[in-house]
Amino acid sequence: MARHPLEPEGAAMRAMGTAAVEFAARFVEERATAPAGGLPDAGGLVDALLTPPPDHGRSFDELLDIIGGAAAHAFDTTGPGYLAFIPGGGLYAAAVADYLACVTNRFVNLATPAPALVAIETSVVRWLCDVFGLPGSSLGILTSGGSLANFSAIVTARVDRLGEQFLAGTLYVTEHAHHSVQKAAQLAGFPARSVHTVACTPELRIDVDALRSAIHRDRAQGAQPFLVIASAGTTNTGAVDPIDDIADLCAAERLWLHVDAAYGGFFRLTDRGRARLAGIDRADSITVDPHKGMFLPYGTGGLLVREAAALQRAHHVGAHYLDDLVHTGGLPNFSDYSPELSRDFRGLRIWLPLHLHGVSAFRDALDEKLDLTETVEEGLRKIPGVDVPWSPDLSVVAFRAVPPAADPDDPSLDELNRGVLARINASGRIFLSSTVIGGRLILRVCVLSFRTHADRIDEAVAIIGDAVAGALAETAR
Ligand SMILES: Cc1ncc(COP(=O)(O)O)c(C=O)c1O
Repeated sequence: MARHPLEPEGAAMRAMGTAAVEFAARFVEERATAPAGGLPDAGGLVDALLTPPPDHGRSFDELLDIIGGAAAHAFDTTGPGYLAFIPGGGLYAAAVADYLACVTNRFVNLATPAPALVAIETSVVRWLCDVFGLPGSSLGILTSGGSLANFSAIVTARVDRLGEQFLAGTLYVTEHAHHSVQKAAQLAGFPARSVHTVACTPELRIDVDALRSAIHRDRAQGAQPFLVIASAGTTNTGAVDPIDDIADLCAAERLWLHVDAAYGGFFRLTDRGRARLAGIDRADSITVDPHKGMFLPYGTGGLLVREAAALQRAHHVGAHYLDDLVHTGGLPNFSDYSPELSRDFRGLRIWLPLHLHGVSAFRDALDEKLDLTETVEEGLRKIPGVDVPWSPDLSVVAFRAVPPAADPDDPSLDELNRGVLARINASGRIFLSSTVIGGRLILRVCVLSFRTHADRIDEAVAIIGDAVAGALAETAR
């Protein structure tokens, strides 16, 4: 037994590292053949793992086996067949960055303790602001995800536009905005009545005329409209709101424009995405989620704000025990712009993959996702009994099985589609999820995993075709 068990010696560290790398390589190599679906029956394992830690430690190999078993009984969010919800990433280089960041464990939310590392993170944030066309006055923070970014965005807009008496403030969303927006408004102190849901066009985008009318009506009734939240890719169907038109309206009405680009933002790296997200460079703030569109591991989100000073005003609180850390070198103290003080080094998790692979690798992968989405849409439109109600703006294809002679609003079609989804997911090769739009159950294919390529998409279309044919044949019986 080592004298200081919390300080393993070189040989022990190397052995642990080698075993962990072997585990990681095997895990990644197995993704192509692993079951795409969830393996939710983790019953015995769950009970076993709810136990407290032992007083004396166990072997690393034994623990690695437990971790592997637990990870196998989970949705394969990193696999090529995962086309459900919003697929996760998990770039290997990002995992290595996390390992290095954890071992070096520098303090990066203030500039003085680690200026060169803060420069790394600043370069990432600057790059993000540049990608979205924000001016030199902008800055951002790296958050744990889109939800926390939406929260800081709403707080920043609230402080900037309403000051301390904010309860008459109203903000505008559509029913397709992510639920984290409603949660963020609640956490930011707004009562539920402050969040106004605006009608959508048949394409599920904000109806700008309805938005204008709602703003005028609310103002006439004494409310203080202050914020519009547009989606650059809704979670349901990937629909992109008409950001340019909304930006015109916000400018005329002096409202803050926040764009939730958690799902779709990084398509801006591609020519097609740039065109579809037109106007995003006019936003006052933008939520991005590198753990979606940059394929990074969970825990990597970001908020970009056009006027850094507004972000700072909403988040800065001083303390004398930090006086020794005054920084004069021009780098940001990120903690002054965010709710957090101590935190993980998210900047390295983005910087290392970007510098190792180059921006073009990300652009090409996202272009590939847009191509694959076209393949899915074309393929599904050819399947008899499949309705594709909306053409995808980005990489979500929503569809529904509708038998040729059926009334599309027949509620029993929901049951049929639940059956189709079960058949698809039983294939073990792809995993899809559903949503409800206009009261109807809708199935969706979301192409965003960096491991999903043409072979799996061709297979997906064939599996969906078989599942629909099978379900229709069963109902015809
Ligand atoms: C459009 C949109 N906004 C916000 C979020 C929340 O992001 P996170 O899960 O990173 O907190 C999501 C998550 O899927 C999303 O799709």
